[in-house]
Amino acid sequence: MSWNAPTMKAAYIEKVGSVEQIIYGDLPKPKAAGANVLVLVKAVSVNPIDTYVRSGGVAMDLPMPFVLGCDVAGVVDAVGPEAKRFKVGDRVWGSNQGLMGRQGTFSQFAAIDEQWLYSIPDEVSFEDAAAIALVGITAHLGLFRDAQLKGGEKVFVHGGSGGVGSCVVQMARAAGALVLTTAGSDVKEQICKKLGATTVVNYRTGDVDDALTKFGKIDVWWENLREPNLERTISRMAMRGRIILMAGREAKPTIPIGPFYTRDMRLLGFAMFNAPADEQRKAAAEINRWMAKGRLRPQIDRVMKLSEAAEAHKLQEANTVQKKGLLAGKIVLVP
Ligand SMILES: NC(=O)c1ccc[n+]([C@@H]2O[C@H](COP(=O)([O-])OP(=O)(O)OC[C@H]3O[C@@H](n4cnc5c(N)ncnc54)[C@H](OP(=O)(O)O)[C@@H]3O)[C@@H](O)[C@H]2O)c1
Repeated sequence: MSWNAPTMKAAYIEKVGSVEQIIYGDLPKPKAAGANVLVLVKAVSVNPIDTYVRSGGVAMDLPMPFVLGCDVAGVVDAVGPEAKRFKVGDRVWGSNQGLMGRQGTFSQFAAIDEQWLYSIPDEVSFEDAAAIALVGITAHLGLFRDAQLKGGEKVFVHGGSGGVGSCVVQMARAAGALVLTTAGSDVKEQICKKLGATTVVNYRTGDVDDALTKFGKIDVWWENLREPNLERTISRMAMRGRIILMAGREAKPTIPIGPFYTRDMRLLGFAMFNAPADEQRKAAAEINRWMAKGRLRPQIDRVMKLSEAAEAHKLQEANTVQKKGLLAGKIVLVP
């Protein structure tokens, strides 16, 4: 297909449901209207929420046909009449698409409001920019906007080699914190060490409680698991400890109130897609600074073709929802 053709390839659905609903085919090429920027897509990445939205597990108003995907990296192909931040040819990345009524990114072109786009530093590849997008912004919002992490504090990351966890480990270290994290295999243990974790414990073969005891009281507990055990967590927290909860919509854990409030703790929950554009841009700016200096890199498990979007959704679901441990980090798709 020529880039001037009125259609483009996309991975989309016509109704919510299983991965079988994913179609890879032609859709009309969008236009850069209003404050939108038309991005020639070079890479996208898969997030667990993509699978919840596609399956209908998370109910959202979806324009149909609905293009899958939140994250994107590419080149500005055209700018709308009200778009001021970018020009044709700029390399950009972004997230928060495919949500709240917006079209997704799994296509050759995506029309995106410029408020959700950021420049890609010269040193950073399209694949890395796409892979860091949603998970990087999530990690930054949780650690800095919400938990207000300070240098020298102790952070526990439950799941350090995953998409979000690998960013939390690196950002906490970049902020001067000490990090204990868990990994589900020897290979993932090595990955977490490379990411900079101070201590890593294999939760399948090692003793997480023993590692927590040796590491000392936790100032910030980052919970990636969808079934948190808050009795365990609260017993491990320091005075004024902050617990980040951002997964597990169906979870109903028991909360021991006494040890929680008498040690001045905070339970902090958030969904990154609720964060307004200025908060996301602040996170993106620091992500860019760290990426340009080589202090932050997304943990990419594999790169696949956009035409393999259904296979990628199957893998992501098996990894995150069925907890099969198949991935160490992100799946990137390239058109
Ligand atoms: N609220 C928000 O804004 C937001 C944003 C992004 C993601 N999320 C949610 O956050 C969760 C994580 O997302 P993700 O993209 O990082 O997913 P992911 O890449 O699949 O990572 C899942 C992590 O959980 C770990 N894990 C699984 N079972 C474990 C166990 N029994 N003990 C310790 N660790 C275990 C995995 O470790 P191993 O592979 O080593 O087993 C892996 O590190 C998902 O539920 C996602 O929907 C929420």
